[in-house]
Amino acid sequence: MVGKPERQVAVFGAGYIGLVTGACLAELGHRVVVRDIDPEKVALLRSGDVPIYEPGLGDMIARNKERLTFTLDLGETLDGAEIAYVCVDTPPSASGDADLSRIWSVVKSLEGATHLKAVVVKSTVPVGTGARVRAALDAAGLAHVGYAANPEFTAEGRAVTDFMRPDRIVIGASDEATAQLITDLHHGVEGPVVVMDVRSAEMVKLASNALLATKISFINEIATLCEKTGADVEEVARAVGLDHRLGPHFLRPGIGWGGSCFPKDSEALRQLASNTGYHLQLLSAVIEVNNLQKRRAIQQLKDELGTLAGMRVALLGLTFKPGTDDMREATSTVLASRLLAEGAEVRCWDPMARPGEVEPWVSTTRHATPEEAMAGADAAVVVTEWPQLKEVDWARAAAAMRRPVLFDGRNLLDPAGMRALGYTYMGVGRP
Ligand code: UDX
Repeated sequence: MVGKPERQVAVFGAGYIGLVTGACLAELGHRVVVRDIDPEKVALLRSGDVPIYEPGLGDMIARNKERLTFTLDLGETLDGAEIAYVCVDTPPSASGDADLSRIWSVVKSLEGATHLKAVVVKSTVPVGTGARVRAALDAAGLAHVGYAANPEFTAEGRAVTDFMRPDRIVIGASDEATAQLITDLHHGVEGPVVVMDVRSAEMVKLASNALLATKISFINEIATLCEKTGADVEEVARAVGLDHRLGPHFLRPGIGWGGSCFPKDSEALRQLASNTGYHLQLLSAVIEVNNLQKRRAIQQLKDELGTLAGMRVALLGLTFKPGTDDMREATSTVLASRLLAEGAEVRCWDPMARPGEVEPWVSTTRHATPEEAMAGADAAVVVTEWPQLKEVDWARAAAAMRRPVLFDGRNLLDPAGMRALGYTYMGVGRP
């Protein structure tokens, strides 16, 4: 970029974050080598395919193929690299703490890379991880290599935009030169850079996700209270959100939050607190409210149908939100396993879901359209607010159901309109 040197960057991990980071840094003009240990993934990327669905990512990778390469080979990754970006996953371990083993294996692989200028951790990690990585780098003869925490705040479905036009770029560094190096690396990104110490930067990520999750659990509890008092949570949320001190975002009531970040990061923050001997009471309640929220549809269906045993229930949408193929911690997985445990028959529809190993029921019960999934059903649940559901011929779908009972877990549809079509309609926090 004009006035800023192009850098040679090694990105470790070709997962969701590594791919977006690598592609966007290449788009900014840097030379990037992305390394992964999964041969299939690397082969796929080399052939021009992208293993995840993310708007704009495939085009960006194709556009930058001169500057962006993928490899299994460590030597190739580190050859000439000035900055090493760590984008490996940090799943929960048996104790609930984040499992940092993948981070340690990357750090170990940097031994001997004495020409590096900085190591940057983008993975979500417990506060204090940077200090431990720093010590490991010192012990490996890399005391002259700078260290920075540069957490990501990307939401699935808008990750490329979130990288290129973020609300803020957070850089936690222990020395000014490293902070400047990473600031310059982002030259061309439209967003304010906030420089701080490493521990604070690590905390920003966990605190941000926890506060967003708190807003959702809060409005979900208000929704329950609305049901009991006859208020309409949609009206309440709209007016509450107009207060500029509160803001309109993350006040959409629904059937619970899921995904790869909120559940994992809120648990990790709670665990981090427990390890210090402090109990995060508010966050614990936020998590509990969400766990209950994911089960609410079950009780309401039971009340309506009398029993779930032998009932056929259609789940409309499976992913944790629309615009993604990700089913991690999705409400659909909780609903399906509860329904199956109650003896119900599950049918489902989703335009994009990519189920993992824990959801074998998807392949046997999946239908091509929402209408097909609903045919002969005793109840249907809107689990994910896919726009396709707006286009359903709901009158025909009602006629084809055994009982037109509808739980709208995302308040996607118009209650009066659905009732006029003959549905027994239940929403979240609506009278
Ligand atoms: C989130 C954060 O937004 C992102 O900054 C962080 O880096 C990773 O976690 P993501 O998991 O992709 O991103 O999804 P997001 O759009 O934030 O939604 C998370 C969950 O909350 C979804 O299940 C969604 O349905 C739910 N949600 C969101 C609500 O129920 N109500 C809302 O108002 C907003």
